[in-house]
Amino acid sequence: MSHSHAVLDIDDTEQQQQYSSDPTSDRYTDLYTNEYIAAFVKKWDALIDWEARALGEGTFFIDLLNEHKKKKILDVATGTGFHSVSLIEGGFDVTSSDGSATMLARAFENAKSRGHILKTNQADWRRLGESVHERFDAIVCLGNSFSHLHDEMDRRRALAEFYAALKPDGILIIDQRNYDYMLDSGFKTKHKYYYCGDKVSAEPVHLDKNLARFEYTFPGGDKYTLNQFPLRKNYFCQLIRESGFSTIQTFGDFEEKFIEEDSDFFIHVVKKQTE
Ligand SMILES: C[S@@+](CC[C@H](N)C(=O)[O-])C[C@H]1O[C@@H](n2cnc3c(N)ncnc32)[C@H](O)[C@@H]1O
Repeated sequence: MSHSHAVLDIDDTEQQQQYSSDPTSDRYTDLYTNEYIAAFVKKWDALIDWEARALGEGTFFIDLLNEHKKKKILDVATGTGFHSVSLIEGGFDVTSSDGSATMLARAFENAKSRGHILKTNQADWRRLGESVHERFDAIVCLGNSFSHLHDEMDRRRALAEFYAALKPDGILIIDQRNYDYMLDSGFKTKHKYYYCGDKVSAEPVHLDKNLARFEYTFPGGDKYTLNQFPLRKNYFCQLIRESGFSTIQTFGDFEEKFIEEDSDFFIHVVKKQTE
């Protein structure tokens, strides 16, 4: 059995997500390391059905990276490896990074079962430069990951680290849920992109301007939660600009022309170079 397999099997039964007695008061950036426990990570791929997700996304990211002539990619939110694997299969040179060792171990196994050996790097975004010394053509941060940062200083630090890890003409591709709609009009989803597993429900159980707490219910009744910061789109774009990035092109559910309220996700394509 490989080392990474052993890591995954250690604590399946005993470990639990750790929140305080009032989980809605837990709004700190390091929380994600307690949230992605092995049992949840194992089920994550049931939530994110790879085949359905691949159909939903098509070749969007591959086309985008090819259009921009980018080859050397850093996936900073590898999770269980969906994008790292699809980019490797699309011919890119991919380094797979994540702050969670549990996630990376799972990604490594997922890639191995598809015939790939991932180049992995465990790093929190706020300290990316401590272990990432190369410069990349593009960074991808996908799957609504950035909203794990609960504190504005952490958001700024992470964006600064992404900026530093890019070559001068590098691009950042970063996505987010449509939190504006959620905050202003309530929750709805097409369940078509990202969270495509049809046997799993993913719904917010608490929502205020500083917290979106999502509950994921799996077949058999197992429930896990994630506390995320509901990033408003204009605020996020402003932070990105203030971090030194120049043009921002935004897609809604993979479309260039989109109706804001109808989109579940926004994808921002951001350039480092000023024009
Ligand atoms: C919602 S998952 C998305 C995973 C994957 N990109 C996908 O789309 O399936 C978020 C990932 O971001 C990672 N993450 C969250 N906060 C982080 C941080 N501060 N530094 C590094 N990784 C972080 C988590 O460990 C997790 O793997």
